[in-house]
Amino acid sequence: MKKNIAVLPGDGIGPEVTAQGVKALKAVAELYGHEFTYEEALVGAVAIDAANDPFPAETETVCRGADAILFGAIGHPKYDDDPKAKVRPEQGLLAMRKKLGLFTNVRPVTSYDALLSISPLKEEIIKGVDFVVFRELTGGIYFGQPRGRSEDGTNAFDTCNYSKEEILRVSNLAFQAARNRSGKVTLVDKANVLATSRLWRETVQELANDYPDITLDFMFVDNAAMKIIQNPGYFDVVLTENMFGDIITDEASVISGSLGMLPSASIGVERSLFEPIHGSYPQAAGKNIANPFGAILSAAMLLEYAFGLIEESKTIKEAVMKTVDSGVVTEDIDKDKSSSTEEVGDKVVAMIHELSAVNF
Ligand code: IPM
Ligand code: MN
Repeated sequence: MKKNIAVLPGDGIGPEVTAQGVKALKAVAELYGHEFTYEEALVGAVAIDAANDPFPAETETVCRGADAILFGAIGHPKYDDDPKAKVRPEQGLLAMRKKLGLFTNVRPVTSYDALLSISPLKEEIIKGVDFVVFRELTGGIYFGQPRGRSEDGTNAFDTCNYSKEEILRVSNLAFQAARNRSGKVTLVDKANVLATSRLWRETVQELANDYPDITLDFMFVDNAAMKIIQNPGYFDVVLTENMFGDIITDEASVISGSLGMLPSASIGVERSLFEPIHGSYPQAAGKNIANPFGAILSAAMLLEYAFGLIEESKTIKEAVMKTVDSGVVTEDIDKDKSSSTEEVGDKVVAMIHELSAVNF
């Protein structure tokens, strides 16, 4: 298979972890005889420095010319400390989502047996947990108009807005995913308060008629936030709007033991983007200590979701599992005998080769 992949390392630890994802892709391509080409482009604070634009037109062109996008992270402390900054790295991420039509963010939450003890949650609560969040990504309060300040500056407002069409396209993906899992979708909303949530409920309830094989239930987001900690095994496919999805997926990452473990896919109309859910983690940038598993697992999701390469994707996921089990992990997972970002990436590549020797 011949494919072109846009690589957007971005800010902070983005470049270091993305390099490990690319390494895994190269190893798999060589083994299975695929020809992947990689084209790099700037996004985030590095793009502001270079072009005064967090998502420059040139980067958009590279993305549009690609079959899939592998992305690292965005963000820089100099902007976090300056709420008045006119151009912000995060605008690059939001512009990228909107312009490329990345309407659904898929975030799998898995517990790893070897990491059960590092989670602050009790082992018996998180063991075997495996669910996936379908987060709407280009609507809601993140993008709704009007937004801004009153003339005298003493009042600020954001608008939460959803159309039926926006709700349906992400919901269809969630229902389809449930068919390949245990067949349950939980819609997380705040329908007791918000008009947008009531439209979500009504729309999703109607849509459920097209999926008689799927069980649908509803949960208020405050209750869901509690249940994710108390009984995460309850969930299978979680469907939710943009901001609720943002919040509950950071919360859910605690189940995996480290935010550094979680990958994600942002499904687009024409092409999709893959990124770890952790941010730019500036304190660790350039130190070769950041956890690359989220980025490597994002590369695995790219193979599955963008190219339909299920075997290849599975090989990377299994290689990550084996690497975790072998104890070659970064300091966020094991402070006492940690390995570097690169060492972990190399170990995953070695495991990919080992697995292929068994399977071929
Ligand atoms: C995420 C991030 C972004 C979001 C930020 C950086 C704009 O937290 O991808 O979850 O809120 O969507
Ligand atoms: Mn987030």
